[in-house]
Amino acid sequence: GADEDMAPRPPVVTVMGHVDHGKTKLLDALRNANVVAKEAGGITQSIGAYQVTTEVDGQERAITFIDTPGHEAFTAMRARGAQATDIAVLVVAADDGVMPQTVEALNHAQAAGVPVVVAVNKVDKPDADPSKARGQLTEYGLVPEEYGGDTMFVDVSAKAGTGLDSLLESIVLTADAELDLRANPDQNAEGLAIEAHLDRGRGAVATVIVQRGTLRVGDTLVAGSAFGRVRALLDEFGNNIEEAPPSRPALVLGLTAVPGAGDNFMVVDDDRIARQIAEKREARERNAALAKRSG
Ligand code: GTP
Ligand code: NA
Ligand code: MG
Repeated sequence: GADEDMAPRPPVVTVMGHVDHGKTKLLDALRNANVVAKEAGGITQSIGAYQVTTEVDGQERAITFIDTPGHEAFTAMRARGAQATDIAVLVVAADDGVMPQTVEALNHAQAAGVPVVVAVNKVDKPDADPSKARGQLTEYGLVPEEYGGDTMFVDVSAKAGTGLDSLLESIVLTADAELDLRANPDQNAEGLAIEAHLDRGRGAVATVIVQRGTLRVGDTLVAGSAFGRVRALLDEFGNNIEEAPPSRPALVLGLTAVPGAGDNFMVVDDDRIARQIAEKREARERNAALAKRSG
């Protein structure tokens, strides 16, 4: 859209790193810290993505985390041409230091041109050596600010819950310094399905991240070869929401089928058009599968 239609949007962050370095625990710690603050006693939904808020320079700032198995999802989405992530948080355990999948994750982020914030995790452990990770990553081109580089490194313990606010602040500062994250909220919504499943009671349930526009209850959308009228939108607390602006993750109920991870979605003005697009895509997928089978 035209420049004046653009409004700031929160960064969308993926957490990556070597196996067992603490990605899941860190995502849980960030979410729980925020859940407690936001909604005492609330039941967190497993929606595959969530948004937290933090105060930076007296301003309330939101960050969206994609809560999927790290760089597998990132890689799968990228292979489909979907760029879901604005910033990568690279988790490195302070006791282990840099390991093969640390480097792999870093390569993915660099290939995607995504800025990296390093979370040096497990600093509570007696054998933690946060300066080792800094030294090692310097050799891969991630030079800490304190060594004169431009990558933010933050010491954290997902277990003890330390350093979390600094990590959130570093993400916001990196976004402000390196990215111009804006989107037009006043158009038909477009974005990505990041995961979906069939729920016994609720039917097809898809987690989407809105990238442009605002998604609303009652909108008709196409996601991959699924389509439908949005019957309900839920946030990460399981609350019904009326609309989802850019960068907001939401659960969508009302689709006819389950879209694939990384499928684009878009809102269209007409149910009939949605059905036609979805059916065309389904036929194309079917033909491609048949062609593959017959060699
Ligand atoms: P994969 O998804 O299997 O790649 O692992 P992950 O990176 O998600 O690691 P996960 O969060 O499962 O943590 C791996 C182990 O490290 C678990 O036993 C955690 O309890 C432990 N762990 C994670 N963070 C910390 C930390 O800050 N301190 C300590 N001491 N242990 C931690
Ligand atoms: Na693990
Ligand atoms: Mg994990």
